[in-house]
Amino acid sequence: MNQESLEASIQTEHFGRNLFYLQTINSTNKWLASLADVGAEEGTVTIATSQENGLGRLGREWFSPEGGLWFSVLLRPSITPAEATKLIFVAGLAVAKTLRKEFRLDARTKWPNDVLIDGKKVCGILSQMKSKGTQSNYVILGFGINANIDIGIFPSELKNTAISLKTKVGHEIPLERLFRIVLLQFETCYSEFAVDGPKHIIEEWKTLSCFLGKAITVKNGCNTLIGKAIDVDPAGKLVLELKSGQTRSISYGDVIT
Ligand code: BTN
Repeated sequence: MNQESLEASIQTEHFGRNLFYLQTINSTNKWLASLADVGAEEGTVTIATSQENGLGRLGREWFSPEGGLWFSVLLRPSITPAEATKLIFVAGLAVAKTLRKEFRLDARTKWPNDVLIDGKKVCGILSQMKSKGTQSNYVILGFGINANIDIGIFPSELKNTAISLKTKVGHEIPLERLFRIVLLQFETCYSEFAVDGPKHIIEEWKTLSCFLGKAITVKNGCNTLIGKAIDVDPAGKLVLELKSGQTRSISYGDVIT
């Protein structure tokens, strides 16, 4: 991959037309935030070969050595911050659809931001927002796809929970092509979100879920809730039915299936 070949290969209308291909950097999300703060346009993309300080959800670190696909996309939707939180479903759906179509994999979505294969995480998405009053100023969506990473080099705590595309399909994944098709699918899903609103996207995302209808555990902060995942509501919250029959709407946390 290099700047010229990436620019020449992308098939999107807007996304990635302003593209920054970088070698090892701290984090593509951080890098893009500094561009967004000085007025970068919607669709600007940062992509890096590896990240020294990849950011995960809930303040975690994201393991991002060479071989993965690490990139971020800047969005400037004219919507409220509450609506903008639903963009995570657009990104997850785009990745799951791409992996299903291109590699014939049974890729599944997991609330709120994961894409899984065989119950293991192949992609995580980080959404970061800056808002101005009732409007979101910008949203950065960072995609971390474990493409060509040997399981052997995953840190021990990830060895049983993460998976790499290369391991699953049995050959090296051309990163440039993977980037091109995920970006195109993301732009398509984002247009649908912009035109029709989030309802249809969340509904489609739910059809690919690996956890709805199942008994799950949700950890948020020091709370642990056990119940049946019965829905993801139009606000993007996870609806859990507790043993008592009561339901809880949860806005953040980790789902364990
Ligand atoms: C998670 O599941 O915790 C979210 C992981 C998101 C990782 C990606 S890699 C590209 C982008 N840059 C970052 O620093 N993080 C996101």
